[in-house]
Amino acid sequence: PKIKILAYLCHMQLKNDLLLRAAKGEPVERTPVWLMRQAGRILPEYRAVRDSVSGFIELAQTPDLAAEVTIQPVDILGVDAAIIFSDILVIPEAMGLPYEMVEKRGPYFPNTIQSERDLKKLKIANGSHDLKYVIDAILITKRALNGRVPLIGFAGAPWTIFAYMIEGSGSKTFSKARAMLYTHPKLSHQLLQMITESTINYLKAQINAGVNLVQIFDSWAGILPPNHYDEFSLRYISQICDAITEVPKTVFAKGAFFAREKMGALNCETIGLDWNMGIAESRNMIGPNKTLQGNLDPAALYGNANEVEAATIAMLDQFKGTRHIANLGHGVYPDIDPEMVKVFVNTVKNYR
Ligand code: CP3
Repeated sequence: PKIKILAYLCHMQLKNDLLLRAAKGEPVERTPVWLMRQAGRILPEYRAVRDSVSGFIELAQTPDLAAEVTIQPVDILGVDAAIIFSDILVIPEAMGLPYEMVEKRGPYFPNTIQSERDLKKLKIANGSHDLKYVIDAILITKRALNGRVPLIGFAGAPWTIFAYMIEGSGSKTFSKARAMLYTHPKLSHQLLQMITESTINYLKAQINAGVNLVQIFDSWAGILPPNHYDEFSLRYISQICDAITEVPKTVFAKGAFFAREKMGALNCETIGLDWNMGIAESRNMIGPNKTLQGNLDPAALYGNANEVEAATIAMLDQFKGTRHIANLGHGVYPDIDPEMVKVFVNTVKNYR
């Protein structure tokens, strides 16, 4: 009950609720702005905290430190939202498939799912118990933010999580995961359904702890053909959107240009656009009743300050007068100069 009361108090007053109003299509004084992967990666202040522990996983599992690096971008970059510091791969771990984070190479799963027998070793995760360290980090973050900006919770889309659980690491083609859809469609659906139920439990636990909005990252959407995307991804994202009724939802499906019309019918408030997706064309396909989030090319931040400003204004001009949350078209690249991120953020904030 103590935790419930704390979460309730934290929900009460947001001093800056631009993100939530924009997500719901309510009037805003200006466009809100945040960056995918803003926590970690680019800030020297992040690296200092990370170097004080053994690595990413220890950092993510230490709630005080996770809260600290969650708030850094709010203090340093001036963004309109915080996103909880964690990873989409905590779900496989909570289901019984642990991951490692290999320095400079990314995630690695010592065991993967290849057969019915492997599937039997997994369970449906219970968010508040199996991922208690994330929930604790959210509670600490909410208290420390004290309503300054909304806190975004997140999870991977079932297809993207499935891809890592089969493949065992990142991959250019995810050919093992894609093969599974052809060779073992039934097993694929069973695993996707288990991931979906785990993800719903996890997002609900995040919401109970105080997150104000949730985003679903389908980072590997773009490698599926449209028929497989409908059958093996959108169907499960749709279940999640229908189950989460407490807060606004954002669906970001990278590369799923072919699915934009169908995404317009999802039970969510916001659709993320990557930088390959035309803005006017996306608005036509998705319709007027969703907020669009994005979609500056992350590489545009390699330019100088004048170039970053011009590129940001050109992006904002195309969204002008419609429901919009400013962001990049994918996560900020690790070697981007934080000063250029500030130019991006301040250009959005000064734009009318
Ligand atoms: O947005 C944020 O800043 C919050 C934290 C966050 C992380 N990962 C922390 C992280 C979020 C939202 C994610 C999502 C995530 N993780 C996605 C979806 C978004 C996307 O980029 O498409 C995916 C595909 C992953 C899987 C993952 N985690 C990969 C491929 C890697 C290695 C390469 C990389 O992106 O850095 C990670 C590691 C990871 N996740 C790091 C951080 C800060 C780097 C670990 C380190 O500090 O060494």
